[in-house]
Amino acid sequence: MSVLRAVKGMNDVLPDEVGRWQRLEAIFARIASLYGFAEVRTPYVEPTGLFVRTIGEATDVVEKEMYSFARHDESLTLRPEGTAGAARAYVEHAIHGKETVTRWYYVGPMFRGERPARGRYRQFSQAGAEIFGDPGPGCDAELIDMLVAFLGELGIGDAQVSINSLGSGDARARYRDALTAHLTPLRASLSDDSQRRLASNPLRILDSKDPRDREQLQGAPLLGEFLSVEDQDHFDRLRRQLDVLGIAYAVDPKLVRGLDYYTRTLFEIKGATAKLGAGDTLVGGGRYDRMIAELGGPEVPSIGFAAGLERLLIASELAEGPVGDRIFVATLGARAAEEGLVLARDLRRAGMRVEVDTRGHSLKSQLRRANTMAARVALILGDSEVEGQKVVVKDLAGHGQTEEPRSGVVAAVGALLATPAPRSP
Ligand code: HAM
Repeated sequence: MSVLRAVKGMNDVLPDEVGRWQRLEAIFARIASLYGFAEVRTPYVEPTGLFVRTIGEATDVVEKEMYSFARHDESLTLRPEGTAGAARAYVEHAIHGKETVTRWYYVGPMFRGERPARGRYRQFSQAGAEIFGDPGPGCDAELIDMLVAFLGELGIGDAQVSINSLGSGDARARYRDALTAHLTPLRASLSDDSQRRLASNPLRILDSKDPRDREQLQGAPLLGEFLSVEDQDHFDRLRRQLDVLGIAYAVDPKLVRGLDYYTRTLFEIKGATAKLGAGDTLVGGGRYDRMIAELGGPEVPSIGFAAGLERLLIASELAEGPVGDRIFVATLGARAAEEGLVLARDLRRAGMRVEVDTRGHSLKSQLRRANTMAARVALILGDSEVEGQKVVVKDLAGHGQTEEPRSGVVAAVGALLATPAPRSP
């Protein structure tokens, strides 16, 4: 029979890798809470229209990457990102009526039908944060500061922050016209993708990596030239705030990002390029001041970011972390097997991690198992020990062995675990 495999681009995380995931998620949750964010959990499935309206019809995500399906006469989509769902929940629960500024974070799987590569998957996980109700630019800088702290804690030393401003709606529309006017006479020299985008979404041509497009973009007007006085002031104040916080960054006038909802501040953080290659964008974010109103809420300026957890795990040296000592209970004989489960339960109630073997195998085979799981202590319980109300306690690190009364064995094991394991030669 052929073996069934996971869907291409969707990966299992097996127990020996889960420790790193849990540490990463715990570090993010701790830092997010230090910066005043509370966790929100929204559904993995949303009405397709939510993503079309917010991310934009002419984006790669909506055009080619969404997992959409029909159910009960409704078109539904596995969420390709977290911002649209968070904004929908914010409007649906009228959070703006309850508090003036809202800070939410989330961690969870997202789905995009992209071509799988290192650091690029069809199911991937994001850690994201959104601020609703603060026009910035102070909180824009604060978000970047939080990310620098987060990446620093993960030991990603070479992270590079890029920022840009897209301006508000009007500036962007005028820039779009100017860019289209510049590129239209050069259309035939652009890549196929960019020829198509010239009509649908010309700003996306700016982050094309195709050398033909890069050449035609030389001498193209730059977004920065179209910012209004207010947009420019917002951007200048963001830069000043980053300087005051001592955060190094580069202004990248060609940074536009692939989602249509952005206004004003945009940022990306790249890092660990040697490990990630072209997919080295660890974090992307920006301001989306119109989205809440477009979803039927009031005018609520908003900003956020999301980081790809798989990419962070590739980039960081994060170890699994200490897991604590483990205890193995070996049982020999029918009564010992029964009593072994009681002993294991007593130890677990005292907070110890225990595995018990009641399969009736030889002591040698059970102790081999204790060694493979790197147990610190093996407890041996045979029918004669049960009879005599005793347990043999074997220190697998120190190689000593004692016999303890059953009534005192939990305390004895606790004391043993509290002493450091002798170093192996
Ligand atoms: P994004 O740039 O599309 O932005 O994704 C953010 C991050 O998610 C990327 O920098 C990357 O680390 C990770 N990522 C994206 N696609 C994949 C993939 N196929 N495989 C692995 N990792 C991936 C957003 O999603 C916005 N919602 C960010 C945001 C929040 N903007 C405002 N608020």
